[in-house]
Amino acid sequence: MQIRPVKIGDITVPNNLFAAPLAGYTDFAFRKLCYRFGAGLCFTEMVSAKGLKYNNEGTRALLYKAPEEKNTAAQLFGSDPEILRAACESETLAPFEIIDLNMGCPVPKIYKNGEGSALLNDLPRAEKIISACKKSGKTITVKFRIGVDEKHIVGTEFAKMCEAAGADLVTVHGRTRDKYYAGEPDFAEIARVKQSVRIPVIANGGVFCRADAERMIEKTGADGVMLARAILYDPHVFAEIRGESETWDIRAAILQQIEDMLPVCGEKFTVVQMRKMASFYIKGRRNCAQYKNRLFAADNLSALRALIDEIFA
Ligand SMILES: Cc1cc2nc3c(=O)[nH]c(=O)nc-3n(C[C@H](O)[C@H](O)[C@H](O)COP(=O)(O)O)c2cc1C
Repeated sequence: MQIRPVKIGDITVPNNLFAAPLAGYTDFAFRKLCYRFGAGLCFTEMVSAKGLKYNNEGTRALLYKAPEEKNTAAQLFGSDPEILRAACESETLAPFEIIDLNMGCPVPKIYKNGEGSALLNDLPRAEKIISACKKSGKTITVKFRIGVDEKHIVGTEFAKMCEAAGADLVTVHGRTRDKYYAGEPDFAEIARVKQSVRIPVIANGGVFCRADAERMIEKTGADGVMLARAILYDPHVFAEIRGESETWDIRAAILQQIEDMLPVCGEKFTVVQMRKMASFYIKGRRNCAQYKNRLFAADNLSALRALIDEIFA
């Protein structure tokens, strides 16, 4: 695929390989790794707009942005246009120029609250949310699925609504809500979404390697791709797609992530987070299951570092 910059409203990001929002994973230290391997734009995990309103400590911690991160987008979910607008205007989100609105989360708890993918059933509300957020003066992007199920495909209609309401870019996950993460994305519907709007369209779903990225662009004509589960196992995939030959030193990457997190998150959180991340990175290695158990048993930093040294010796 052609690697090229993407213009999102007044902001130009260096390339069209995006690192998806991933709840529990895409913190600043992981995003740093993704940028290092060549991601053009990263996203925070989804954060509740209501949580921000009530100044929830946990929510603010999820939104730490390192000074060297330039354009990272903060992702919000919610259903109340004014609460979402207030979140966009909040002090906590001041470091973020780009706000991404989650209109695709399939999780029942979110869906039942009329948030995430429930908005695929309620275009007027989704439109009010986007135009309210736009009034904050931020650059607004929207991530949505193609519908809640096969009988209710709304991709093009939804994309047109996003554009009309002022969205600066859309990311379309080419699966319906009921499929969660299973199966091939619907390339034809993503292609129709791309055809239906003038704002940039980023395609998401099932991109795990360079060939997948090529196929996604070829079949959909999208302006770029967003990778999600692939980067949990291998954030270096960005370099592979870019055709860069540098391999990655997983041990050094994990140790760097630990160093980056410690001063911001403290030892306890860093250990919990990094044993979770490391258990993804070791997938496919010899003795993986055994190492995974040992990783989860490591309850302090020196035990974790020693185990990382052993695994990657
Ligand atoms: C563990 C996990 C956490 C996720 N968290 C979010 C999230 O916070 N916000 C969001 O918009 N999508 C989230 N997603 C969905 C992904 O961003 C992406 O749309 C989906 O995994 C499809 O892409 P893939 O086939 O490349 O994995 C999550 C997915 C997974 C597996």
